[in-house]
Amino acid sequence: MLSTCLVTGGAGFIGCALSGALADHFDRVVALDNLHPQVHPVRQRPAALDERVEFVLGDVTAASDWDDLLADVHPSTVIHLAAETGTGQSLTEASRHAKVNVVGTTEMLDAFVRHEKLPRKIVLTSSRAVYGEGAWVKGDGSVSYPGQRSRAMLQRGQWDFPELTPTPFRSDRVEPRPTSVYGSTKLAQEHILKSWCLAMDVSPVIFRLQNVYGPGQSLTNPYTGIVSLFAQKAKAGEVIPVYEDGDIVRDFVFIDDVAAAIVAGTFASQTGEFAYDIGSGEATTIMHLAEIAAAIYGAPQPEINGLFRDGDVRHASCSIEESKRALNWAPVVMVDEGVQRLCSWIDAGSQTVTP
Ligand SMILES: NC(=O)c1ccc[n+]([C@@H]2O[C@H](COP(=O)([O-])OP(=O)(O)OC[C@H]3O[C@@H](n4cnc5c(N)ncnc54)[C@H](O)[C@@H]3O)[C@@H](O)[C@H]2O)c1
Repeated sequence: MLSTCLVTGGAGFIGCALSGALADHFDRVVALDNLHPQVHPVRQRPAALDERVEFVLGDVTAASDWDDLLADVHPSTVIHLAAETGTGQSLTEASRHAKVNVVGTTEMLDAFVRHEKLPRKIVLTSSRAVYGEGAWVKGDGSVSYPGQRSRAMLQRGQWDFPELTPTPFRSDRVEPRPTSVYGSTKLAQEHILKSWCLAMDVSPVIFRLQNVYGPGQSLTNPYTGIVSLFAQKAKAGEVIPVYEDGDIVRDFVFIDDVAAAIVAGTFASQTGEFAYDIGSGEATTIMHLAEIAAAIYGAPQPEINGLFRDGDVRHASCSIEESKRALNWAPVVMVDEGVQRLCSWIDAGSQTVTP
């Protein structure tokens, strides 16, 4: 049988970054994508999608689109990327997020059964959002799950949990406790996929990605991408506004490193018991990120404005040691260099979308 890889959401940021490596490895690669207008303002096949990839316009929530696709395609491997990805937006458009992320996943699985075309492996890109605030440590060393910061806490500028120290996420040690609708839908995807795959003798591979950035990311989607937002403000010579006290922590992981990890997981012979945490392994404050972007363009010093967003977690970093070992992978681009590369790409203006 020919090896065929189906990539849902394959025309997006991560899908395009993966497309060349997948086309090198598989006999046939098919990208199913509805060209979501929030992600694709010009609703055409992206130029960054490798030309060897067959593009199919379709919606993962539509059973009829699955029927049309599977009439012709029998994937041996599926990489399930299609998703609504706006964490803040998921609070006010919860049904849309649940429909695409949860029902889109179950429609896909039902379609494989209906057409008797089960893949051998399904790769899912879940998110660090499943952890919520994760586990923090008390003074006596015991672990505490503080849950979500309340609006009252944030309004009085109490950004951290008193007397608690954050710890990096790690899937074999830190329980997922999402604090956003988006995170909840990503965790539901994980659970659905795992139980279905185990029953159907299909291998599930789950990645929990930190904040992915780099050339190819959307510069227009207002709901994702703090790195591109900061870079564009700095390029315009504006003061970058920094939320809370500037000490929100994230792990910014470069797109090429994410693509390399997903390719490694796609071809790994063993499926790990736990999700792979994928980050740079480096915790960065958003103030530091803003300073990197401002320095690249000679923009004014970023300013802390004390504003906050409901549902934002305070601290998100991860331990990548287990993923490095299991995938024989390591990130190579750290945040200073990665932001520089993103800015060079923005400056080159090569993010045009052509048929
Ligand atoms: N980029 C990140 O920082 C990040 C972090 C954690 C997890 N992830 C996950 O990785 C995956 C890919 O993210 P991305 O950054 O490439 O996002 P993206 O928005 O660039 O790509 C998603 C693609 O899915 C498509 N899509 C959306 N709804 C669809 C539908 N109903 N049917 C078919 N296609 C649909 C969009 O058109 C888009 O091309 C998502 O599952 C996301 O949850 C991304």
